[in-house]
Amino acid sequence: MLAQADVAANYAFTDADFERVRSLIRKQAGISLADSKRTMVYSRLQRRLRETGHRSFTAYLDSLDKADTTEKQRFVNALTTNLTAFFREAYHFPVLADFLKQRVAVSRPVRIWCAAASTGEEPYSLAMTAVEALGERPPVEIVASDLDTDVLRRAGEAVYPLAGAQAVGNERLRRFFMKGVGQHAGHVKVKPAITSMLRFMQVNLNAPNWPFRDPFDVIFCRNVMIYFDRETKQTLLGRLHDVLRPGGLLFVGHSENFSEARDLFELQGKTVYRRVG
Ligand SMILES: C[S@@+](CC[C@H](N)C(=O)[O-])C[C@H]1O[C@@H](n2cnc3c(N)ncnc32)[C@H](O)[C@@H]1O
Repeated sequence: MLAQADVAANYAFTDADFERVRSLIRKQAGISLADSKRTMVYSRLQRRLRETGHRSFTAYLDSLDKADTTEKQRFVNALTTNLTAFFREAYHFPVLADFLKQRVAVSRPVRIWCAAASTGEEPYSLAMTAVEALGERPPVEIVASDLDTDVLRRAGEAVYPLAGAQAVGNERLRRFFMKGVGQHAGHVKVKPAITSMLRFMQVNLNAPNWPFRDPFDVIFCRNVMIYFDRETKQTLLGRLHDVLRPGGLLFVGHSENFSEARDLFELQGKTVYRRVG
């Protein structure tokens, strides 16, 4: 239980503090925060100040310089935006299903990387699509990664409020989810036949090295590049090209056009790109 004084706490937050936060999150995650994000930064980080017992942003940021990796990670987790949903941007999934049917003859297993997986709704939607397209136990491997360790933990638990999962429709709900009873009522859990197709790992898209040996047939990198500046995005697109197999598909978010990378990818459909070369 929080003491009333903590709830009401008002922490000093200067322009210089905001600049320090901006520069740190840019360095750690590649995330560019606009001037307009100042209030958001305050509200997301005040819990870190409360939990670490600091009375001002300056004191918290000073301590962060010397902090262990746990607090540095909590700082990053607090600043990521994790909005997602099952079958979000639904027009992508039939395109994936068709591609899997063709690709399975060429490349076995078909490898998919879900590169900003958040709380798991997106990679589980990919696995469900693979089962619908290819049948039970499809020869498909899915690597689901994110920078934020909190969302990865929740994704691994695979438990969701029924209200959110209902959007997948009754047939998918019956086929791919177990309904919670007793104290779990109002929640669903993704069935093991789906969860077993995924491997979760922490990957920072802007880290100098990624931990992959084999290339991917498909990459979903949706609604994350919007947080990066043009140069970071361009570098990332070059690296995504390098880990995609020739002819492989890259799916991006609805507002992520990237005219910068025409030599690397050709438009295949609405926000779906095919590797060139
Ligand atoms: C808005 S969510 C998008 C989730 C999902 N791809 C979708 O479209 O529904 C953005 C995700 O990108 C992750 N993210 C932000 N910066 C990242 C980075 N540098 N490396 C990897 N993931 C990052 C965040 O933690 C967050 O979970």
